[in-house]
Amino acid sequence: MRMVDIIEKKRDGKELATEEIRFVIDGYTNGQIPDYQVSALAMAIFFRDMTARERADLTMAMVESGETIDLSAIEGIKVDKHSTGGVGDTTTLVLAPLVAALDIPVAKMSGRGLGHTGGTIDKLESIAGFHVEITKDEFVKLVNEHKIAVIGQSGNLTPADKKLYALRDVTATVNSIPLIASSIMSKKIAAGADAIVLDVKTGAGAFMKTAEEAVELAKAMVSIGNNVGRKTMAVISDMSQPLGFAIGNSLEVQEAIDTLKGQGPQDLEELCLALGRQMVYLAQKADSLEEAEEKLKEAIRSGRALEKFKEFIANQGGDPSVVDHPERLPQAAYRIEVPARQGGVVAEMVADEIGTAAMLLGAGRATKESEIDLAVGIMLNKKIGDSVQVGESLMTIHANRENVDEVLEKIYANVRIAEHAEAPVLLHGVV
Ligand code: URA
Ligand code: CA
Repeated sequence: MRMVDIIEKKRDGKELATEEIRFVIDGYTNGQIPDYQVSALAMAIFFRDMTARERADLTMAMVESGETIDLSAIEGIKVDKHSTGGVGDTTTLVLAPLVAALDIPVAKMSGRGLGHTGGTIDKLESIAGFHVEITKDEFVKLVNEHKIAVIGQSGNLTPADKKLYALRDVTATVNSIPLIASSIMSKKIAAGADAIVLDVKTGAGAFMKTAEEAVELAKAMVSIGNNVGRKTMAVISDMSQPLGFAIGNSLEVQEAIDTLKGQGPQDLEELCLALGRQMVYLAQKADSLEEAEEKLKEAIRSGRALEKFKEFIANQGGDPSVVDHPERLPQAAYRIEVPARQGGVVAEMVADEIGTAAMLLGAGRATKESEIDLAVGIMLNKKIGDSVQVGESLMTIHANRENVDEVLEKIYANVRIAEHAEAPVLLHGVV
């Protein structure tokens, strides 16, 4: 088999055979096929697309390029949730204890990563004592006994994807539905999920700027999952403004606690129920999505979800009293209000830019070496569609320094107040 023939075939719009896709991924992973040939193929795929069969083959070839996590020692159907990335996205912290309270195993492997705030592990580490340095055996035991545990990501998963993603990044081929879908799905499958629920974001803070593109990506990922034997569902949700009120690590832990008490922001609660009901349904703990949603609401009303969160924190060395005393979470030294400079209705609050403002305060990492400040971040006091009077606070900055001029400038440049505006639609569909 010759790489040049494979490139030519895709260039001319033909379908690649399973063995050809495998040849490319294996050869690229072990260094036998050079970057320039894979770049040419990625560009051909960008223009010519891939069939459902090719997409499934590409995904599985990437899964098999490295180690995979075996969760078979954990009883029950392991449903994983994945978000394509948002600002102030607190859903994992809510959903993990919420679905575990319904006896669904939550075996979460998480990373720290770069971004506007830390990842799930960083957020949880704002709880004193909480740690994820547990052995694989402890992890499995915790999930079997308590239905929930979090461990740091380890192992060399999907090396082909790492290499290909880096190459796409510098060859203008990131934004291709078959390549994005196979990239994301390969990582979830390698991490051992039996079933997958996807939260595909759309809007300013997201990869997919329009709802149509996001629906297309969601359909592509659901099709891959179902074609390779992993039941998959998706929700398409708004990310034109940050989700909920909190953006920041300990601030989001507090927001998750509020939501588990049934007192969280309305959009966060609605999205958690939309994703949670798919998780419960795929875990076969309900016969319909309606029944699944009812069970989730009951777990919140009865306090079982909140109890599960306390149990989870204590199991991993954390202080569960933060649930009843959120003031014991790290607190920033300064709270600085951001007054509206004019009255009207909030028309725009650009999600990724407000996320960057939180990062400037120290809530997220710009590079792998950056230190995170778990206490800092931004609390929204208004959201799109809310009326505001001149001088009224739009947001509260939680900072550990007095001078936040740069952050204020970023915020004012990305909030627009108009005469009329409506709250954006949160859910753009389900697949
Ligand atoms: N996120 C991924 O993991 N892969 C892509 O290709 C795009 C976004
Ligand atoms: Ca939030």
